[in-house]
Amino acid sequence: MDRVKLGIPIVDEFVDEGFPLGSLVVFAGPPGIGKSVFIVHAVIGALNKDWRVIYITFDDEPEDILSVLESFSKDVLVHVSSNRLVLIDGFTVPISGLSGSSWVKVSPTNPLDSLTTIHNIIRESSVEVGKLLIVVDSLNEIVLRNEAGLVLDFVKGLRGICKRYKALGLVSLHTGIPGLEQLYHAIEYLSDGVIELGFDPSLEQLGIPLRRLRIVKVKATSHSLEWIPYTILRDGKISLVDVKKIMSNIRQALSELQGMITK
Ligand SMILES: Nc1ncnc2c1ncn2[C@@H]1O[C@H](COP(=O)(O)OP(=O)(O)O)[C@@H](O)[C@H]1O
Ligand SMILES: [Mg+2]
Repeated sequence: MDRVKLGIPIVDEFVDEGFPLGSLVVFAGPPGIGKSVFIVHAVIGALNKDWRVIYITFDDEPEDILSVLESFSKDVLVHVSSNRLVLIDGFTVPISGLSGSSWVKVSPTNPLDSLTTIHNIIRESSVEVGKLLIVVDSLNEIVLRNEAGLVLDFVKGLRGICKRYKALGLVSLHTGIPGLEQLYHAIEYLSDGVIELGFDPSLEQLGIPLRRLRIVKVKATSHSLEWIPYTILRDGKISLVDVKKIMSNIRQALSELQGMITK
């Protein structure tokens, strides 16, 4: 089975053999935890490997995605003009009289049409099998605007495209909306890989927001099941967090507090 590293720091380190080509991998977690940042790393990694990237943006305007990508790599616009990076706009609402988006457009209210659009782009651009990254950021709008069966059909269809072209599919999923837990589980169950992101609950209670991730599953691959603490640096880079250092800071803060009480 051909395997590949995602180009994402930390995640690649903890999945020894890499992700099987043809996999659909979900990044699940609350808003602001870093799902899009992880995906941006994978996009830059794929472009650097001369892969094609098809990126459907449902959460932001394509121009905003481009600016973020450009902050990581200056070559992004060149990749857009050579069609190596194809952005699909699932965000912009067409308003009469306002100049429309020049990007290929899809609507979150018609998820199966989005799959057809992806497939047409693949067929028209003679993509090399095994050298394609497909991104859906995020699945949220599709989840909120469609009945559960259609959402799952979208996930299954996307997985089918990934398998057919030995592509790697990355999907971000905002979790935490009450009542949707069963659907989240079904989406994760249908996916080949699941990476869960969240804040450490004990430290969150103390007002310390520590991000952490857990590789829940990767098809046919051994991997760590540990929670791995990470941080997103000012330049968007992802870095491991030294928990021992945090514990020592907390101990020191507690002993200073203790000193104030006993005075
Ligand atoms: N380009 C960037 N450079 C630096 N930090 C960023 C950048 N993009 C996002 N961040 C930081 O990462 C956090 C997570 O952002 P994001 O990946 O968009 O979250 P999610 O997609 O999970 O909602 C943001 O709150 C911000 O602090
Ligand atoms: Mg996001």
